[in-house]
Amino acid sequence: MHIAVVGTGYVGIPTGVCLAELGNDVICVDRDTARIENLKNGKMPIYEPGLEELLLKNVRAGRLSFTSVLDYAIEESEIIFVAVGTPQADNGEADMSQVLSVAADIGRNLRDYKIIINKSTVPVGSGELVSKTIREHAIDKSISFDVVSNPEFLREGSAVSDTLKPERIIIGSDSTAAAERIMQLYKPLKAPVLITDLRTAEMIKYASNSFLATKISFINAIANLCETIGADVATVARGMGLDPRIGPLFLNAGLGYGGSCFPKDVKALMSTAERNGVSLAMLREVERVNAYQRELFISKIKEELGVLSGKVIGVLGLAFKPNTDDMREAPSVPVLNALIADGAVVSAYDPMAFESASTMIAGLIRADSPYEAAVDADVLLVLTEWSEFLELDFSKLKGRMHKPVIIDGRNIYDVERMSDYGFRYISMGRPCNGLPV
Ligand SMILES: NC(=O)c1ccc[n+]([C@@H]2O[C@H](COP(=O)([O-])OP(=O)(O)OC[C@H]3O[C@@H](n4cnc5c(N)ncnc54)[C@H](O)[C@@H]3O)[C@@H](O)[C@H]2O)c1
Repeated sequence: MHIAVVGTGYVGIPTGVCLAELGNDVICVDRDTARIENLKNGKMPIYEPGLEELLLKNVRAGRLSFTSVLDYAIEESEIIFVAVGTPQADNGEADMSQVLSVAADIGRNLRDYKIIINKSTVPVGSGELVSKTIREHAIDKSISFDVVSNPEFLREGSAVSDTLKPERIIIGSDSTAAAERIMQLYKPLKAPVLITDLRTAEMIKYASNSFLATKISFINAIANLCETIGADVATVARGMGLDPRIGPLFLNAGLGYGGSCFPKDVKALMSTAERNGVSLAMLREVERVNAYQRELFISKIKEELGVLSGKVIGVLGLAFKPNTDDMREAPSVPVLNALIADGAVVSAYDPMAFESASTMIAGLIRADSPYEAAVDADVLLVLTEWSEFLELDFSKLKGRMHKPVIIDGRNIYDVERMSDYGFRYISMGRPCNGLPV
């Protein structure tokens, strides 16, 4: 099939690359000309494991190309995926301006039948709005098109395998023929497909993300109670997760959720509910717990260090989660900005995200390894659970530090093991190992 993917971000590139991998002819489009030039030269604008190799393979095979000329991509394609941003607007709702601008362009360039697929996360009713916008801008009003909602569930850090081996594919459309065509497109993936109407598909995405955010805030609220009563939240979560009705995933207590999706999607769903006179007040509590986790973490650091001015703080991890360079809504940003504002000297190591983080955290010092981050540190913080932090030489790490204290916002280490290495170890919802400094 001939496909255009509009938007070459964390969703657009994996989508375009994987559709090409399935044998389709794919043109990826972005209005950011520098980004497109980089992609044409094989330079990746984002970090995503395995993506670069697959991209180069499909470019070489002649199935994947890049352009900043949307009109050309529209003309060449039967199916147009819209994967542009829907950031949070000032009123908490999703900002639809990028999606609607693409819809208007599609309308202006509509010369034959097209299927337009919303991959961007868009509020309920957006499919109809996109249809209306295309129709309004179409020069020849007799040309038909269909709009399909196909929400994206990939996770940054495993986007390639999530796209090639999805757990489910949701196809929402008011046109049976269009839904069947998209089912055909995804057939090689052999994934469960759920066909719905447009609005239901849009709702599935928001309900899924809000549920996962709720799960995270739930375990964080439990973690805080565990700390007070002297229980261990990691073991509580393990015990809960053995129940198949609960499941073990998204039950890691810590700094809370971040990233480009959960915070804005929870807000957007609350706005939709409010606008429609329905209460989703429980999501307000989800947000409150999430914000509190960062404050709690900062208070743990202050409790340990006293006055922050002049104190040296080492940091392991900045990205909002491992295996990505994405810093959007990363908990490291408010936490480290607060510490630096209080006079701490902060040196941080992240395998991928330092460059982007340094534009959001003024005064952050770059460390090129975990050991460099630990030099002279009064405390070492864990803010992202990169797997390489599990395999450190802890004697070497301790030898670099001024004081052997670790405050772990992601609960990645075993409490006993940290005692064996001689670290005073403080984490989230688990008892401190009580070692004196
Ligand atoms: N990032 C994720 O993990 C994820 C997962 C599921 C769903 N989503 C949703 O997918 C959508 C895209 O997210 P993202 O993280 O890839 O965003 P992003 O910001 O990484 O990428 C969006 C891209 O769209 C381009 N763009 C904007 N307007 C354009 C236009 N008119 N023409 C051409 N290009 C244009 C931008 O230049 C940018 O490169 C959002 O709605 C998001 O909520 C994201």
